[in-house]
Amino acid sequence: MLTKTMKAVQIHEFGGPEVLRYEEVPVPRPRSGEVLVRVHAVGLNPPDWYLREGMTALPPEMRPQLPFPYVLGTDVSGVVVAVAEGVTRFAVGDEVFGMLRFPQPGSAAYAQYVTAPVDELSLKPAAVSHQRAAAVAMSGLTAWQYLLEQGHDHPNPLQAHQHTPVPITPETTVLVNGAAGGVGHLALQLAKWRGARVIAVASGRHEDLLRELGADEFIDYCLAPGSVEALK
Ligand SMILES: NC(=O)c1ccc[n+]([C@@H]2O[C@H](COP(=O)([O-])OP(=O)(O)OC[C@H]3O[C@@H](n4cnc5c(N)ncnc54)[C@H](OP(=O)(O)O)[C@@H]3O)[C@@H](O)[C@H]2O)c1
Repeated sequence: MLTKTMKAVQIHEFGGPEVLRYEEVPVPRPRSGEVLVRVHAVGLNPPDWYLREGMTALPPEMRPQLPFPYVLGTDVSGVVVAVAEGVTRFAVGDEVFGMLRFPQPGSAAYAQYVTAPVDELSLKPAAVSHQRAAAVAMSGLTAWQYLLEQGHDHPNPLQAHQHTPVPITPETTVLVNGAAGGVGHLALQLAKWRGARVIAVASGRHEDLLRELGADEFIDYCLAPGSVEALK
């Protein structure tokens, strides 16, 4: 029998980490096409704190208006504990992970339970921990979509030039800036998987890791420009 309330981390206003509050809230009920997931791990990505701050990088007319109090969080891994009527894709007890409702508001994953549309979840491989599964959803999709999906040419209001997809082949050289980051370390591995030569740019402490992941060349962005020239 499910409890009626749960703990969640919610915000009552935009701001820094100090606006996050650990509070008692009702357990959400799955609607048609949704399941209820007992959350085991949540992934954090830059869009989490951009939204917590109120998307201040956007022009004011594009900033979201949230219904406060608001529970943040999109990336989740956990176990299905209830299914709405008509759901056949998942059953109670399934281990699942996914990125929920992004970029629409209302994903609410910083909580003990979260509702999830079934087409935004996948079964979690048993060999992958909940922590790793929750960490891969948005950053993995970001790396996959900008690097491998051809025809991804949606106009971006923050970028004057449209993205021009280039097929990644063994003849391609890919430079990954921020290669040790959440997106970058996955982009590096996807590019290597497609056979490309990869130049990884990161701070020096990450060189061993990135070479282990397959980087052919490494550039420490902390070095003075003259030092980078000396590497050539
Ligand atoms: N995470 C997502 O799902 C997602 C989705 C959409 C867009 N994005 C965008 O993608 C970017 C990266 O996100 P992320 O999640 O990968 O962030 P992250 O995990 O914080 O990684 C950012 C990386 O940037 C590196 N860096 C900082 N200053 C640098 C510089 N001057 N030159 C080269 N590298 C530098 C850091 O490298 P060192 O640690 O080696 O110093 C750090 O590892 C952000 O702009 C984010 O908004 C992310």
